Amino acid sequence: MSLDDYLDAVFIHEDDVLKAIKEDIVARGMPAIFVPPLTGAALHWLVRMTHSKSILEIGALGGYSGVWLARGLPEGGRLTSLELRPDYRDVAEANLRRAGLADRVSYRVGPAADSLEALRADGARFDFFFIDADKDNYPLYLDYALALAEPGALITADNTLQGGRVFDPKAQSSAVEAIRRFNQRVAEHPELTSLLLPIGDGLTVARYQPSV
Ligand SMILES: C[S@@+](CC[C@H](N)C(=O)[O-])C[C@H]1O[C@@H](n2cnc3c(N)ncnc32)[C@H](O)[C@@H]1O
Repeated sequence: MSLDDYLDAVFIHEDDVLKAIKEDIVARGMPAIFVPPLTGAALHWLVRMTHSKSILEIGALGGYSGVWLARGLPEGGRLTSLELRPDYRDVAEANLRRAGLADRVSYRVGPAADSLEALRADGARFDFFFIDADKDNYPLYLDYALALAEPGALITADNTLQGGRVFDPKAQSSAVEAIRRFNQRVAEHPELTSLLLPIGDGLTVARYQPSV
């Protein structure tokens, strides 16, 4: 038995609903770039442990991470999910509905930077962020997360190891450079307490505590 098999069997509990969402995404020819079950379980656990009530997800795809996140919410909690493509939003919305979570989720379609600016203009606030969209914009998404964060909020981001390329000095793509900047800023920010958990492709977790 591998470590992943052991964790799956004992801790993760990826049920038939979650498995069906992954099958649905693949059957539709969408990219199979949803988080691994361990990352989904970690997100769910973090939402629960922090008693988060308002989650902002950047990058919905077909709703797989959305189900892990939304299932961690208490009664009355809300997930707002940003997705570039209307067809992917439709799939995510249908999958959240099938999971019995339609009343907890709403979507905004279009470039996340535009949706984030609209949320900022509306005075929206969130206590949990999950960043999982275009890597080049992670530093920008961090700026918006800080602008939209309640005191004590958690800011999480996937793929922050980039398959190990973040610590390979020869790797110099724009995505890797952007993730390096993101991790460095998160690690050095005086109002964030941060760690990069080496699960999946790397899950950066930062708690925001403003100084005033
Ligand atoms: C890695 S997938 C998200 C996977 C999803 N979080 C999960 O684990 O189930 C990235 C998603 O971000 C979306 N995306 C890419 N660029 C975007 C942008 N500029 N604004 C909003 N969404 C974007 C893609 O269409 C894709 O659905």
